[in-house]
Amino acid sequence: MKDLLRLRTSLTEEIEKVLNDQIKMEAEASAMYLAMSAWCDRNGFDFSAGYFKKQSDEEREHMLRLFKYVSDMGGRAISPSITNTQIEYDTFRGVFEQALQQEIAVTQSFNRIADRCQKSKDYVTFSFIQWFLKEQIEEEYVARRALELFDVIGEEGTGLYEIDKRVPKITYEDTYED
Ligand SMILES: [Fe+2]
Ligand SMILES: [Fe+2]
Repeated sequence: MKDLLRLRTSLTEEIEKVLNDQIKMEAEASAMYLAMSAWCDRNGFDFSAGYFKKQSDEEREHMLRLFKYVSDMGGRAISPSITNTQIEYDTFRGVFEQALQQEIAVTQSFNRIADRCQKSKDYVTFSFIQWFLKEQIEEEYVARRALELFDVIGEEGTGLYEIDKRVPKITYEDTYED
């Protein structure tokens, strides 16, 4: 029966599994950013609270993009359950360190998926994930720039207030447009 069902799709179980794992990773990122938004809000960092809320929405969009692909391909997309989301952070800077770390982990994860696609000659999925690989350039850039504000502006005096104000203004200029 299992083999028969597989006749419905060119998506292998292996690739379906890595895509479902990625769906979960995006959902975890969405939950993490929402918790960061709440932390910023509680600690008086209004602008960053808005920034992380927006990031959270974007991660959910990423999750849904992957979810749709697995479904469209006749696979079984899984709605992940997310637990153990970190809700407390020691410092404002610590929030941004964690955010950058998460984005780097996502980039590495997509690199591994690309690798698996090539090894199993799944060029359909390989082509589909190109959007994510490109998106990660911007995701890492913005997270890195936000963290750099702590060194550029400094945390003394009204530094944290200035940093908070500037975070949502970080823009990424995509000069790779074709
Ligand atoms: Fe993402
Ligand atoms: Fe992201």
